[in-house]
Amino acid sequence: MNAMTSPAASPADVCFVQVEKKFDTTTALHSLDLEIERGSLFALLGPSGCGKTTTLRLIAGFEQPTAGHIYIRGTDVTGLPAYKRSFGMVFQSFALFPHLTVAENVAFGLKMRNVPKPEIAAKVAAALELVELGTFADRYPRQLSGGQQQRVALARAVVFEPDVLLLDEPLSALDKMLREQMQVEIRHLQQRLKMTTVFVTHDQEEALTMADRVAVMKDGRIQQAGTPRDIYDRPLNEFVATFLGASNIIEATVKGTEDTGTVIDVAGNTLRIRAIPATTGTRLRFALRPEKISIGPITGSTTTGVSATVREAIYRGSQTLLYLDIGGMPVNAVVQNAGVEPMNLEPGAVVALHWDNANMVALEPTP
Ligand SMILES: Nc1ncnc2c1ncn2[C@@H]1O[C@H](COP(=O)(O)OP(=O)(O)O)[C@@H](O)[C@H]1O
Ligand SMILES: [Mg+2]
Repeated sequence: MNAMTSPAASPADVCFVQVEKKFDTTTALHSLDLEIERGSLFALLGPSGCGKTTTLRLIAGFEQPTAGHIYIRGTDVTGLPAYKRSFGMVFQSFALFPHLTVAENVAFGLKMRNVPKPEIAAKVAAALELVELGTFADRYPRQLSGGQQQRVALARAVVFEPDVLLLDEPLSALDKMLREQMQVEIRHLQQRLKMTTVFVTHDQEEALTMADRVAVMKDGRIQQAGTPRDIYDRPLNEFVATFLGASNIIEATVKGTEDTGTVIDVAGNTLRIRAIPATTGTRLRFALRPEKISIGPITGSTTTGVSATVREAIYRGSQTLLYLDIGGMPVNAVVQNAGVEPMNLEPGAVVALHWDNANMVALEPTP
């Protein structure tokens, strides 16, 4: 796409076209392409330093790209300063004004925009109702819990109905229980308001729980973008497979291709998978989720499934986590404790592993 073409026809509310951001010698973002659909919640997920905050700051206009273009609602906003853009933002640190009441904190952005007073009062009341803090209007931030303060910050960010809501790790300062509760609350709020939201997190469960779409980032590049289910079930590479949940990496060698599919060797076991374009002798890596593996006893002399040795079994109430070994290759499995007669899972016990080969996802090298 050349720089003059506006992607106005696309339903994307936020669109990055080959956006690059350099800070002196550091390239924080390498030619990023991004499309965020109107009314959706989009999560940017990745380890610290991968460029998540930089991406948000570019949407806000706090930073400008060193190359490429940014469109919001079809308008090229590249170069436009933050005060000319329409966004609400919530950070990890609550950043409320300590000397202002809850209502005054929420009203702040409206006053800055010269909204008439009666309208301010109505909008503030509605926004506080939305985050269930209607009765807290006259309190000061220090009289609120961490979760309540973050709800005030959220009310302040949405009260003027911005085009985009930007949330930068807003829940990471909260404890686990509260964080999980707030994940659901923010999601409901976002769906009720149908507000285009970009949510930054380094917590994979948070991204899976909340987002319509997730972009997994590493070193200033998007490794994969898609629905939580796409990304979890069909990771493109080892980074995505292991960053998003636990995954076994199964090493295999291609033995040949038949009409019915490709034959591979996994630590001495012959498996047939859906035909893939790979020549005999090629080494491949597959992702296989621990919960896709089931275990059974070795029956008689003919083993169906792949035989594995138990290294350790960890009882976890509803599940058992198994550390296994297939001909020297470590593999983890998670099995549900469904109340059937427990098998011998002592270290050294040999068991048969079963899985649907369709759950083995061939991985590309991580860029
Ligand atoms: N203002 C800045 N000056 C120099 N380097 C920066 C600046 N902001 C971010 N960076 C660098 O850009 C990279 C991405 O940072 P950031 O977007 O904050 O990552 P994340 O939010 O994913 O942790 C990091 O290497 C960081 O050190
Ligand atoms: Mg950050």
